Amino acid sequence: MTLPAGLGLIDLHAHVLPGIDDGAADLDDSLAMADQALEDGITVVCATPHIHDDHDVEIDALAGQVDALNRVLRDAGRPLSIARGGELSAPLAARLDDGTLRAVTLGGSGRWVLVEPGPGPMDGALDECVDALHERGVRCIVAHPERHAGADAAQRLTALVERGALVQVTAAFLTGGHGAAPVMLDWAAQGLVHLVASDAHSSRAGRPLAIRAGLDALLSVPRLAAHGTWIAREAPAAILAGDDVTVPF
Ligand SMILES: [Fe+2]
Repeated sequence: MTLPAGLGLIDLHAHVLPGIDDGAADLDDSLAMADQALEDGITVVCATPHIHDDHDVEIDALAGQVDALNRVLRDAGRPLSIARGGELSAPLAARLDDGTLRAVTLGGSGRWVLVEPGPGPMDGALDECVDALHERGVRCIVAHPERHAGADAAQRLTALVERGALVQVTAAFLTGGHGAAPVMLDWAAQGLVHLVASDAHSSRAGRPLAIRAGLDALLSVPRLAAHGTWIAREAPAAILAGDDVTVPF
């Protein structure tokens, strides 16, 4: 099953802010990424700069930078909205105070945070991070587990999902003969994949700001086939609004 035509997609993971981290190099790059998004049918992009010791992102400035890009997009006639967010490095999470943590939640709602596992395969430290964030009232979305997959990845994801985390995979890795695709589709068949994102960093290299082809690949999994609208729109919208999310599959 493919996605309904005209459904405005939401990408919850993109490095679209100009000159912030290793994402868009400049405003022209951001605008070109916005055009990629619109071409793909995306209407909302969550800006998720790296909140990581390797990147000197000024968290206090992010809201203003999102507002500025939205103004540029509006003035340029691009019908795309940028939402606030961040991609929080798991090892860093415990060091953020509550106000700073809230500033990097998706949509700025204080409810959902995108967590990047620490380097290497997922391990118990990620479980502890998720538990600690949940105890602080912030729900976790685990970013690109396919990049942190050890031999026990499915068991790791099962434990994270049982803890209440959602799992987000990278759209481009679901298509184009990528080696991880069968593994990701197997996870999806087990109910361990809930969201698809571009994790785009630039219009000039790497993955485009697009998710539709990856979503279509994911919807080839029978368990998910009837849930394209939920995955592409309803769940991401609820997350940006800070609402609860109940997985329907
Ligand atoms: Fe990312």
